[in-house]
Amino acid sequence: MAVSPTELLDIARTVATEAGELVARRRREGVTVAATKSTSIDVVTLADRECEEFVKARLAQLRPEDGFYGEEGGDSTGTSGLTWIVDPIDGTVNYLYGIPQYAVSIAVVEGNPDPASWKQAVGVVNNPAADELYFASKGGGAFLLTGGKQQQLHVNEETDLAHALVATGFGYSSEVRAIQAQRLTHILPAVRDIRRAGAASLDLCAVAAGRLDGYFESGTKPWDHGAGSLIAREAGAVVGGLYGAAEGESMLLASNKYLFPEIEKLLIK
Ligand code: IPD
Repeated sequence: MAVSPTELLDIARTVATEAGELVARRRREGVTVAATKSTSIDVVTLADRECEEFVKARLAQLRPEDGFYGEEGGDSTGTSGLTWIVDPIDGTVNYLYGIPQYAVSIAVVEGNPDPASWKQAVGVVNNPAADELYFASKGGGAFLLTGGKQQQLHVNEETDLAHALVATGFGYSSEVRAIQAQRLTHILPAVRDIRRAGAASLDLCAVAAGRLDGYFESGTKPWDHGAGSLIAREAGAVVGGLYGAAEGESMLLASNKYLFPEIEKLLIK
């Protein structure tokens, strides 16, 4: 990599901060649904589109040779070998309803936007409504900047599944949800409780910050977890799919090294 991780992290933090200010401002002004995507409840707001355009344009100024892969579809291939993976608003339904659990998620990876082969370099997740900016670079640890103060993040050391607080998420199609609900029947009786907060990137950051002991979801896309999975890993989490696979659409599981195999066993059941 010709560019240093520090430089990439500075750019990711700057752009995520600016984009967070934009979406928070649009939220205060009122949110408009622009269209629906996979199903009638999978919405995209005008702010999602505006934010992705903004992030894409800023990155094109700052890193013109890199590729771009965004949730709202403005993909481009670069020449540097680096790709920016962007979810302009993760937690769009929360954003629509004014629930302050949404984030701008920006990651940089070496290689294609495929979790099975990419090498993660940097990840930033900005929740402007909570004044929380999470960030990590490969090998550099994971941090939370809030109220002007920065703290390093570490996953919980919980070893007992029965005392684990575990989050999950659901897709937008009824068929997928029926399968996810079935899987949940194996997990719920075995853990302290379940959370469904509505933004995959923030669920991963919550594992990093010790606010959750684990998180799993099927059906997530690279932009949902590209940044959050690096932040969780850098805080000490194991992140992956089932049977030793990389995280991906079939499964994304994050927790400490003790609970990962326990939760995995229940997900395979
Ligand atoms: C969604 C959120 C949600 C998760 C869904 C994602 P979006 O992303 O991360 O928590 O359960 O799988 O699609 O649509 O708000 O960007």
